[in-house]
Amino acid sequence: MIDAFSPGTRVCIETFGCTANAGDTHKIKAILKSRGAIPVTDISEADYVIVNTCTVTERTELNVLKRLDELKRRGKRVIVAGCMAAAQPELVKRILGDDAVMITPEMLYPVMDIDFERTDSTVVGIIPVAMGCVGSCSYCIVKQARGWLRSHDPNSIRKALESAVAKGIKEVRITAQDCAAYGLDHAVKLPELLKMLTEVEGDFRIRIGMMNPFTLIQIIDDLLDAFDSDKVFKFFHVPVQSGSDRVLNDMHRKYNVDDFIEIVRSIRRRFPYSTICTDFIVGYPTEREEDFLASLRLLEAVKPDKVNITRFSPRPGTEASKLKDTLARTKKTRSRIMADTYRRIALAINKRLIGRELQVLATERGKKGGVIARDTAYRTVILAEEVPVGSFLNVVVTDARSTYLIASVR
Ligand code: F3S
Repeated sequence: MIDAFSPGTRVCIETFGCTANAGDTHKIKAILKSRGAIPVTDISEADYVIVNTCTVTERTELNVLKRLDELKRRGKRVIVAGCMAAAQPELVKRILGDDAVMITPEMLYPVMDIDFERTDSTVVGIIPVAMGCVGSCSYCIVKQARGWLRSHDPNSIRKALESAVAKGIKEVRITAQDCAAYGLDHAVKLPELLKMLTEVEGDFRIRIGMMNPFTLIQIIDDLLDAFDSDKVFKFFHVPVQSGSDRVLNDMHRKYNVDDFIEIVRSIRRRFPYSTICTDFIVGYPTEREEDFLASLRLLEAVKPDKVNITRFSPRPGTEASKLKDTLARTKKTRSRIMADTYRRIALAINKRLIGRELQVLATERGKKGGVIARDTAYRTVILAEEVPVGSFLNVVVTDARSTYLIASVR
């Protein structure tokens, strides 16, 4: 379909979902540019709107469907990309009709020509290194959209990084549904890949995306060796999902709580100044009160620096969708208690950093002014000064919130 765009067609892309999906948007932009289409940000100027969708939770699904409906009512020609196009095409057709045009992640997978764009407001680039995963989590719809693991050839990834660096990209987000699974389908695994990438010349920083405990535990020692480079943010996104072994088993996560604790210990032993980010699902159908309390205890024990909390929602076609759902008010209460606990922990961690000098990379201009920077552990640092994005700076932390630090340039 993208091939059919004639030069001069004005196209606006709206993106929902995760970094992998944002990476697919960059691929779509590269294809559009090669066809002479013109990217626009204002939909009133667009001949076509491409909506790159996500369907990870029921709430996101509803937001996407609402947006498709709005665009249709405004008389826009809409193309649907992303996970909904792959996993729930019937929902798209219900709104846009049987002849709705869709671009699935599968179609974009082979593309490694990525449109890296350094602007005055961002120096961030995304490189997808694999699609799909080796898991079979009972609640996950992404598997239907992105399938079994397929890793990109390491040389094509290195070339993509070289082109990003040549274009002035400074923060490179290595992304996949499970980065730790990279290369399980061929010879080069994530630690070797990371070493190859840090050998690329230039002043840039790599952020490794989400890594599942089950695959991470198999490579942790080699991976921590590969992280031992100034070019790698000491950021570890390891979603635990539950603090109850029984629930983890029901979810088919293939690890237990102690495995997760051991991973966190290994990371902190090696990199005491690092960010541990994790995810919890609250209200999984088989989660009883005592399981939720076990998740809370795990949160208190590990004290992750960052936590994403999702209320369970049944996704069509998954094993968990056939189970009796937890009451909405129970999910809401558990989610609130967990969020309050997390905020308290994160604020205490961040407050301890007040007065400390940090090295940061200014990566993006904030929407409300100021500049967003990242320190060596990928903590979010807000700078009041209007420094150029892309600069490496020494700053002093002057204040702290639960999700970011405030700092001044020294
Ligand atoms: Fe959403 Fe697909 Fe990412 S469901 S979270 S866009 S992999």
